[in-house]
Amino acid sequence: MWDYYKDKKILITGGSGFLGTVLVHRILKTQPDVGHIYVLCRTDREGLKNRWQKWLGSAHNDVWKTNKIDVVQLDISKKNTPQDFEDALGSFEIDIVVHAASSINLDRPIGKIKNVIIEASMALAEYVSRRQDVKRFVYVSTSFANSHLQFDSDSKTLAIPIEETIYPLGDAQKEWEDISNGIEPPYVKKFPWAYAYAKHLTERLLQQKLGDKLMIVRPSIIGPALQFPVRGFSVIKSTPCVTLAAAVMLLPAWRITFASGLPNPNVNATCNAIPVDVVADRLLAHLASGNNQVVHAVGKPVPFENLWASIMKQRRYPWKANVVWVKDDWNSPKVHRIGRLFKVLGTAFDFSDANTIELQEKMDKLEPNIIVSEKGAQIGTQPQLFADHEIDLINFGAWKTQVRDSMDMFARRDWVTKVIVRVLY
Ligand SMILES: NC(=O)c1ccc[n+]([C@@H]2O[C@H](COP(=O)([O-])OP(=O)(O)OC[C@H]3O[C@@H](n4cnc5c(N)ncnc54)[C@H](OP(=O)(O)O)[C@@H]3O)[C@@H](O)[C@H]2O)c1
Repeated sequence: MWDYYKDKKILITGGSGFLGTVLVHRILKTQPDVGHIYVLCRTDREGLKNRWQKWLGSAHNDVWKTNKIDVVQLDISKKNTPQDFEDALGSFEIDIVVHAASSINLDRPIGKIKNVIIEASMALAEYVSRRQDVKRFVYVSTSFANSHLQFDSDSKTLAIPIEETIYPLGDAQKEWEDISNGIEPPYVKKFPWAYAYAKHLTERLLQQKLGDKLMIVRPSIIGPALQFPVRGFSVIKSTPCVTLAAAVMLLPAWRITFASGLPNPNVNATCNAIPVDVVADRLLAHLASGNNQVVHAVGKPVPFENLWASIMKQRRYPWKANVVWVKDDWNSPKVHRIGRLFKVLGTAFDFSDANTIELQEKMDKLEPNIIVSEKGAQIGTQPQLFADHEIDLINFGAWKTQVRDSMDMFARRDWVTKVIVRVLY
């Protein structure tokens, strides 16, 4: 499978972020004969080098020394016309585009994220469709792009089944036009966040524009790496479960109200997380296999009560924070502000990962587990398409450093939190 990447020239937008960093390192460490990697982000070359040095220490040194990385500095929330992409990328040969750059802010209204998520993706797709050399375009969406089905589903099961397909909504072109004119389509309110709606709309628009060139990857909640590039690799603010755990551990409340329509949310509601290195491997394996469909990058659902118990185990107040469920709207003022941000906490989705099960079966037949180069060096292993240790992801005792980093981020915002962190943690 890694042979596919030999000599390939790959543009990775968002290559400086949490997932992008793992993608770049995984390709370069496993297929050193890759053609070239262009990392598109707002940071410059020096900034990226410093960032990776801080995040990964020596683990990134040899990657940098390969001289196979170029940084394309472009703020796609401001510069997002096909001509902007031509100006930035016109002189490079590109075989594959992996488009992972995005705002992941769950708080922002559609007007504030439309440029970076919808406009920029469409301009990049328009630009790519004019080029002969680009054969594949991978769009990194989110499995919560279909979280509106929570309300529409006539499913008889508690967990709403979500297939690896694009679910129709309205007229995508009209919705995009409305958004460009400052009109919010009525669908936005059906989604937990404008972010999820923007991803849903972008999936539909890209499908119309790119057809068979397109593959869509939908990660659930991305968590710390199980092993690659180093165990526990994570980025503050990009690992929602860790941020949630840190927020709840700092909160002195003895009861917290969340919304759910499920009969027994403690047991029925679920959290779905996946290690970042498994997301990267799934994406790269499906891309190499020629997949041009939708791929879920998801783990096994974990009941809410397990998630909460794990947070409570690390929380150092002498009292527990008890959860009170209300059958209210996600945005209800009765719901705690943590619940109004992490809205899907009271939901249950059954994300299919049939495409990856099928791919794993094929790979088991075709490839040995260890891949050895012609010179006898071990250049890589079979990609890790499933996490054996889902439970690890919500075991915050194992991610103390990551949780502490998030707490320090909160502490920088106000002195009360700073004192709580100092005294309790
Ligand atoms: N994290 C999750 O739990 C999660 C879950 C599901 C799906 N996803 C999706 O996975 C993808 C990667 O997310 P992530 O967790 O790696 O996010 P991240 O750590 O925040 O990284 C975002 C990346 O996008 C780039 N970017 C953001 N705004 C940009 C702009 N205006 N112009 C140019 N580049 C910009 C950033 O570059 P700079 O840092 O240089 O600004 C960074 O490289 C996203 O598409 C996200 O929607 C994430």
